[in-house]
Amino acid sequence: MTTSAATLRLVRPALADVPLRGPGAPVALDASQAAVVDRVAAGADPAVLVLGAPGSGRTTVVLESVVAAIEAGLAPEDVLVLAASRRAAADLRDRVSARLRRTSGRALVQTAPAAAFAVLRARASALGEPAPTLVSGAEQDLLLGELLAGHAEGDGVDLGWPAHIPADAWTLRAFRDELRDLLMRAAERGLTPADLADLGVAHDRPAWVSAARLYEEYLDVNELRASTPDVGARFDPAVVVDEAARALLAWDDDVPGVPRPRWRLVVVDDHQESTAATARLLRVLADDGARLLLVGDPDVAVQTFRGASPALVARASVLGRGPGELGATTLVLDATWRHGPVLRDVVTRITERVGASGAVAHRRATLPARSTGTRASRSCRAPRRRRPSSRTPCAARTSRTASPGRTWRSSPAPACTSPRCAGRCRRPRCLSACSAATSRSVRNRPYALCSTRCAWPWAPRR
Ligand SMILES: Nc1ncnc2c1ncn2[C@@H]1O[C@H](COP(=O)(O)OP(=O)(O)OP(=O)(O)O)[C@@H](O)[C@H]1O
Ligand SMILES: [Mg+2]
Repeated sequence: MTTSAATLRLVRPALADVPLRGPGAPVALDASQAAVVDRVAAGADPAVLVLGAPGSGRTTVVLESVVAAIEAGLAPEDVLVLAASRRAAADLRDRVSARLRRTSGRALVQTAPAAAFAVLRARASALGEPAPTLVSGAEQDLLLGELLAGHAEGDGVDLGWPAHIPADAWTLRAFRDELRDLLMRAAERGLTPADLADLGVAHDRPAWVSAARLYEEYLDVNELRASTPDVGARFDPAVVVDEAARALLAWDDDVPGVPRPRWRLVVVDDHQESTAATARLLRVLADDGARLLLVGDPDVAVQTFRGASPALVARASVLGRGPGELGATTLVLDATWRHGPVLRDVVTRITERVGASGAVAHRRATLPARSTGTRASRSCRAPRRRRPSSRTPCAARTSRTASPGRTWRSSPAPACTSPRCAGRCRRPRCLSACSAATSRSVRNRPYALCSTRCAWPWAPRR
């Protein structure tokens, strides 16, 4: 704020500065990242799926794509970014605001339930109804706790818990958490208490039958709380996304003349954490004209206990109307920026044990050029030494078996220093992901591929 004798001028404080270092700092995009951003800015693809290993810059691509799309002409209000958690949404929201240096009429980065709830609130307002309520996890826990405590004191009907769930367990927080997860997964799939009980009988899970009885009570209490005219509808987080999808589909009939919430670009970071309900909402938004950018890595899903379905990542590239099918063009990020060679090696070893859920191309990501020398020597577990020059005989430096006098083919060639490589590695350097370099089963095959993750053929033996 500045003052003078005659005038008083209010000056808006500057938006948060773009950090110069660390997460959020602008980076020079690599070729695979730039390809995504250019495609999104061009706006020709109805849907783009980006696969990227951990630290490959998926969130960076989301950020830069949003900035590029807005610079190419979209209004910030036309863009919706869905993040996997409230914390991730808040972090990305700050980064986007810092890059755009402008504000938006509605929150640009949200979780899927928050975006869905905003749709339902807009609908209630258009209909002149009281604002709805999003039931929080803490509130759900309280309600279930009250119901269970009542049953522990002998109130109401006997829920008939199986013998291995004694009454003492009902009061435990961990038990309520498990129960809440079960009920919310049922809600997400549109199962009524009767459906859940039927599934319990069909699959011989008596606990599901008991939980179904409690679910019925839970729904009754929720309905009761919303039954006075001054209170709006109450939505569990597990159903709010589907409710919003339904509200959007029926919008023109329910609230004619009121424009429906609409976005021209919808971006999902960490699509591996999306639920089936989020996929249904994306389908409705895409049918309404939104372009989609879905970014994810099915190997690193952590919210499956909350209904995340990592298989949706691979399905997004399928053209069709089935669950999660969005006909997306697939692009792959091919370098990992966050991890050094050791961590990358660990990630590679772990992910190769994770069952593939349809998408594996991102597992081939390598470290950017500046760190490959370290990576090569460490991943080969050979002592670090000066790299041989391009004309250095292989046998002299790295191999026990290759004939003296052989030279490295590529120039300049940071040679593989693994004693096991024996000079057969045609790639100028050892790949951390190249399990064949150490695998007995394929090591001696003349033309075998290193592995599915490393498409470089071995050189023929000479
Ligand atoms: N082209 C690049 N040049 C330099 N640094 C980069 C580049 N791309 C990303 N980074 C940096 O790499 C780190 C990881 O980026 P980012 O968080 O976008 O990756 P991610 O794939 O979303 O990671 P996560 O697996 O944690 O979700 C960040 O510090 C980011 O600034
Ligand atoms: Mg990320």
